[in-house]
Amino acid sequence: MLQSSEDMHILSTKQFLDHVELADIFTLADKLEKEDAAHDIAPRLGGKILATVFYEPSTRTRFSFEAGMLKLGGQVITTESAANFSSAVKGETLEDSIRVISGFADAIVLRHPEQGAAARAASVSGVPVINGGDGIGEHPTQALYDLYTIQKELGKIDGLNIAFLGDLKNGRTVKSLLTLLASFEDINVYLISPEELRLPEANRSELAQKNIPFKESSELDPFLKNIDVIYVTRVQKERFASPQEYEKMKGSYVIDANTLKAMKPKSIIMHPLPRVDEIAKEVDDDPRAAYFRQAKNGLYVRMALLNKVLS
Ligand code: NCD
Repeated sequence: MLQSSEDMHILSTKQFLDHVELADIFTLADKLEKEDAAHDIAPRLGGKILATVFYEPSTRTRFSFEAGMLKLGGQVITTESAANFSSAVKGETLEDSIRVISGFADAIVLRHPEQGAAARAASVSGVPVINGGDGIGEHPTQALYDLYTIQKELGKIDGLNIAFLGDLKNGRTVKSLLTLLASFEDINVYLISPEELRLPEANRSELAQKNIPFKESSELDPFLKNIDVIYVTRVQKERFASPQEYEKMKGSYVIDANTLKAMKPKSIIMHPLPRVDEIAKEVDDDPRAAYFRQAKNGLYVRMALLNKVLS
């Protein structure tokens, strides 16, 4: 049960540092996957309506929330692209839109280009707001299924060596997952990026405060033999001031057959997706390529989260 009105929202992974609660969510995700395989999902959310309000493009986040809601017996209202087809075009503020939508739906999933937008929405919403990505801020539901994926693939979180690769400055999934990982034991983090795309100072000091050892480097190869998880990210084109600046950074890293040769036999490659050119297609058939399994896990973890906020 939800404890207070603040707890009803999902805004940040800072809300998920209780490992008992994480285990509950993951157990329900496991159960929902089994029910789904048996075509026998109990309609836990019958009569409830989810609004998906996306001001930025999305494939996985929106479709998995919507599919999850439908599988749980609920219904979905949505807009093709909130930035173009909602009253935002007429000049309505996010707050006014959310106030109104919260009168129509039982929960809202919001994606927005501004950091802090989900918290602003939550402050005026009468129903739970789920942060589906707020600019370069956070993407908590992604991080929850990323953590679930690591646990499911490698059987543990404690003691792992985890490398983050690519655009660590603008990638919100990285920040949300690091917050979660920092609550585990004996984690070693490798932050691999071009100098210009380093993890921001605030996130580095969060790791330091939690005594999580981390190394920063622009090179992945020297660490490959120690790494259990490589978390690859896309250079976040939409966050660059000009196309020229993006062009300079894109293609900084490519995971390919040579990377696979240097990696441990029991390790995994993750990616929140979409990938552009940072993982070669030749990697997809290797059993260590976990990114499509990771995306599928998103469905069940998000169903468990919908159940948590709506039932
Ligand atoms: C991510 C996002 O939106 O932050 N996508 C997703 O939800 N899986 C990652 C990205 O866009 O690079």
